[in-house]
Amino acid sequence: MAFFSKKTESVPTEVDFSRLPKHIAIIMDGNGRWAKKRSRPRTVGHAAGAENFRTIATYCKEIGIDYLTVYAFSTENWKRPADEVGAIMGLLKKYLLEAIGQMERDRVKMEFFGDLSLLAPELRELCERTREISRHYEGCQVNICLNYGGRDELVRAAQAFAQDCIDGRADPNHLSQEQFGGYLFSKGIPDPDLVIRPSGELRLSNFLLWQSAYAEFYFTDVLWPDFSKEELHRAIASYQNRNRRFGGV
Ligand code: FPP
Repeated sequence: MAFFSKKTESVPTEVDFSRLPKHIAIIMDGNGRWAKKRSRPRTVGHAAGAENFRTIATYCKEIGIDYLTVYAFSTENWKRPADEVGAIMGLLKKYLLEAIGQMERDRVKMEFFGDLSLLAPELRELCERTREISRHYEGCQVNICLNYGGRDELVRAAQAFAQDCIDGRADPNHLSQEQFGGYLFSKGIPDPDLVIRPSGELRLSNFLLWQSAYAEFYFTDVLWPDFSKEELHRAIASYQNRNRRFGGV
């Protein structure tokens, strides 16, 4: 069931911290409009969005969310002007450098969903280093979707499965959903319980298509840089008021 509130203030914020979603996924949308409202370049909006990501990721860890997955750059985002793409990549680089510096203290496990081969070598190397250093950390896991597309992920999975069939490692007549899930970037990670999209858009935009099959959705017109801890509480409270049946009664 989708949820959309124009009057966000009217949505309750009381969260039951003993029943939190295990996995929250966020489409960090609205940075451009946030900047436009302030007559600033779009890149300023992305910088504010990156700052808010830090705040929300830290808070998710503090309250005990096990997995946080964020959509940072899609397979379609390359169509944006080069300076905007460059600014987003620069923000990611800055974030990863800081994260590496604080990893011993934060102990957040970092993963990346997407085809990293198209990234600049320096950024790709930072992603790989971050993943490697944090590999054994337990607690919150942050997955950054980077050059990620849900359809691209499914096509890659189908190709890898077909190759395994050709090589005799898999049998096309025996493929379970669990087995297919093992070919996705999200291998080994539980599906998101709650998918949040700020900024008023009511679509998935190629985000976690397979994994969102039974997710609860929360939409709000608040723009991502303004999506505060209180907004997160609203999203979680809304999630906690749903009746999840997973196709049952
Ligand atoms: C969507 O808003 C946002 C993006 C495509 C980029 C998101 C990137 C960041 C928040 C910065 C880097 C991330 C990390 C993890 C450090 P939009 O530009 O489509 O906004 P609009 O719809 O208002 O134009």
